Amino acid sequence: MQLTHIPLISAILGVAMTGSTMAATHTIDVGGTSSSPALTFVPSNVNIAVGDTVMFAFNGDHTASQGSSGDPCSPASPSEFDFSGNAGQNFNHTFNTAGSFNMYCKIPGHCDAGMKGVILVGQASSSSSSSSSSGTGPTMSPPPPYGSGASFLTPGAKPITLGCLLTGAAMFAIAG
Ligand SMILES: *[C@@H]1O[C@H](CO)[C@@H](O)[C@H](O)[C@H]1NC(C)=O
Repeated sequence: MQLTHIPLISAILGVAMTGSTMAATHTIDVGGTSSSPALTFVPSNVNIAVGDTVMFAFNGDHTASQGSSGDPCSPASPSEFDFSGNAGQNFNHTFNTAGSFNMYCKIPGHCDAGMKGVILVGQASSSSSSSSSSGTGPTMSPPPPYGSGASFLTPGAKPITLGCLLTGAAMFAIAG
């Protein structure tokens, strides 16, 4: 009889679904696309969250390098990323620090021709503010303790997650 495991698994699922944020991967075409100029990053301005990854997908002989904040066509020092590649290659970089990162191609003439852009990390104004830089992330409400099934019906309770519903259902199934 494995039914006794269901409440625990459901509780874990409930916490996992409400407490985790998935890191995303964003693709930037290096050297344009079939429908955009060759000497570009596409998109050239990206807004990502701390912990997200950028995949630089090369469509020609270029570099995807971090430019200095003062002159986006010269190298940053220190720099977080400096990839050199050719068509078909890709490189991933995960941004774990909030900030504004210039990117450009180091090949002479390319940056001046417009092959540059900006990656904004952790500045997104959309949805919830995942302020992981402050170290005080959003607090997570714990699942109700076992045996307090009646609290699901309490007015003003937090929104019930699927996991909690399953937990409650399983508890009632066992208890009944
Ligand atoms: C970069 O990440 C993508 C998506 O996860 C993956 O398909 C690709 O193989 C990675 N590239 C490298 C060089 O690791």
